[in-house]
Amino acid sequence: MNVYKIAVIAGDGIGPEVINEGVKVLNKVAELAGDFSFEFTYFPWGCEYYLEHGKMLPDDGMEQLKKFEAVYLGAVGYPGVPDHISLRELLLKIRKQFDQYVNVRPVKLLQGAPCPLKDVTRDQIDMVVIRENSEGEYAGAGDWLFKGKPEEVVLQTGVFSRKGTERIIRYAYELARKTGRTLTSISKANALNYSMVFWDQVFEEVGQEYPDVETHSYLVDAASMFFVKQPERFQIVVTSNLFGDIITDLGAAIAGGMGLAAGANLNPERVYPSMFEPIHGSAPDIAHQGIANPLAALWSASQILDFFGHENWGAKVLDVIEQVMVDKKTLTPDMGGVSSTEEVGNEVVALLSALK
Ligand code: NAI
Ligand code: MG
Repeated sequence: MNVYKIAVIAGDGIGPEVINEGVKVLNKVAELAGDFSFEFTYFPWGCEYYLEHGKMLPDDGMEQLKKFEAVYLGAVGYPGVPDHISLRELLLKIRKQFDQYVNVRPVKLLQGAPCPLKDVTRDQIDMVVIRENSEGEYAGAGDWLFKGKPEEVVLQTGVFSRKGTERIIRYAYELARKTGRTLTSISKANALNYSMVFWDQVFEEVGQEYPDVETHSYLVDAASMFFVKQPERFQIVVTSNLFGDIITDLGAAIAGGMGLAAGANLNPERVYPSMFEPIHGSAPDIAHQGIANPLAALWSASQILDFFGHENWGAKVLDVIEQVMVDKKTLTPDMGGVSSTEEVGNEVVALLSALK
């Protein structure tokens, strides 16, 4: 029997509340499936830890995490600790040191999910955005000259290596081929005359090896418009770090909002653990009240199941999330319901058990 070792960093605010439900659901799935199980190890890292120890994680923290196949993360960040510390010293550190260069963000409108667009049907919003997660505009390269002087100049340089660009584009082509879907590249070569011309070139080059994959290429501004007006144009999408950051928030907005959106940070070679998280933050405004929506954390639990090759169970978890939203009986206040975080988790567990 396969035992999947997962490091849990539940984090701050509503993080632990929603992750609890995710762990509960994963354990239930394992019990129903019968041929695999999960072993969860909890790490109390985050802002509380920082206030006590002056750091977000212990010095050997990354070494400890390395032994796991996956990290399940709640949310990190809380008033009292500056966001650039909590984000850089924990989340970004994990993404970078574990070379999690693929960010996978499903943008899929589930039945019953709140959608701000008029007259869109479920099948019109069903894409997977592959965001470059390791370099590009977020590489941290640049300079700040003559600080505070009248001649002050700042430079922020996008870093696009051949290796980094090729591997993310190749990952997207592979996914498109495997799933038989179209692949759309989002770039901006008309204005970014080095980085995005290069990106487009690599997209074409790698595409030579995938004649079976139907491709499209859009400028990021046009793509933003189409996300809203004709989301059915997109199936698999590949884009750079900055464009991906922006466009996936837009994606989350059209597919049900922050209470639903999940993201996976993958090291596809599996040399290092991959990390799975709801994309919302620690929501200090509703923390410790037991009313946080756990559905995003449950969607990321379904990505964990996919990652371990149990796509059938990943799909079942999504089906059940959908059923909860269609039933409308057990929803948290952000979705118009009156249920608690735990009640939603329990309902998902009950519906999963009823599937068999
Ligand atoms: P946020 O996502 O925590 O909250 C934004 C709004 O959405 C709030 O009104 C909140 O109540 C609501 N919300 C978020 N998740 C919800 C859920 N599951 N159920 C119901 N309502 C939910 O973003 P905000 O306020 O900008 O950031 C708060 C803290 O979280 C900051 O310290 C920030 O740095 C951190 N953060 C951490 C992230 C991570 O760990 N990946 C991502 C985003 C923010
Ligand atoms: Mg973001």
